[in-house]
Amino acid sequence: MRMRKKHWAIPNLNKNPYIYMKPQEFKGKWQKNFEKAQPIHLEIGTGRGDFIVEKARQNPDTNYIAMDREANAFVEAGEKIKEAKLLNIIGILGDADNLLEIFGKSEVEKIYINFCNPWPKNRHKKRRLTHPLFLNMYKEILKENSEIEFKTDNDELFEDSIDYFEREGFKIEIIDRDLKVKEDEVISYYEQRWREQNIKIKFLKVKFVKS
Ligand SMILES: C[S@@+](CC[C@H](N)C(=O)[O-])C[C@H]1O[C@@H](n2cnc3c(N)ncnc32)[C@H](O)[C@@H]1O
Repeated sequence: MRMRKKHWAIPNLNKNPYIYMKPQEFKGKWQKNFEKAQPIHLEIGTGRGDFIVEKARQNPDTNYIAMDREANAFVEAGEKIKEAKLLNIIGILGDADNLLEIFGKSEVEKIYINFCNPWPKNRHKKRRLTHPLFLNMYKEILKENSEIEFKTDNDELFEDSIDYFEREGFKIEIIDRDLKVKEDEVISYYEQRWREQNIKIKFLKVKFVKS
């Protein structure tokens, strides 16, 4: 079901001091937007923000950046980030297509991709956030030995993504086709929805190692 367009989303995000609307201006300088300089973890396609706000709450020694290109859903993430009043999380309204204009080389120490659109049609596959076109950008912005964690409900996207990561030289650390909820597991809005429908959650953890 399509979300109704919220005409107030952009004005609301514009007024939110935790949200950066022109992220290109901060390329290579993201640490300056946090209280403390510490590793930056990025979630691409944050949606409503439940996952990353909880991560930030649990891990004060990490700086978190929530990123999404759709103001409609992201405005909710913005509100959650503001209400959390944490010193280690900010958001950026931006498209992953522009990652290289937004982040400097090795600026990020972990990437999370949760339940990205599966884009099943062949002609759309290059829009997948795990497609090699994106993986090559991740290699630029990630520090060596950093990890990417990817979760999906979609079998085809999952199996293709394993191929993509292997093909691009990432070291596969964990492949789990039926991820059980651990005590400290942080769950996104979409993960919650799929779990309620008893859909198996697929999980991949990979490491970026320079060849
Ligand atoms: C299916 S939702 C999942 C939201 C959230 N991660 C969750 O698990 O609840 C996918 C999100 O990815 C965002 N997205 C898709 N392509 C993107 C891109 N190229 N750059 C940034 N965000 C993107 C969409 O706007 C949407 O909010």
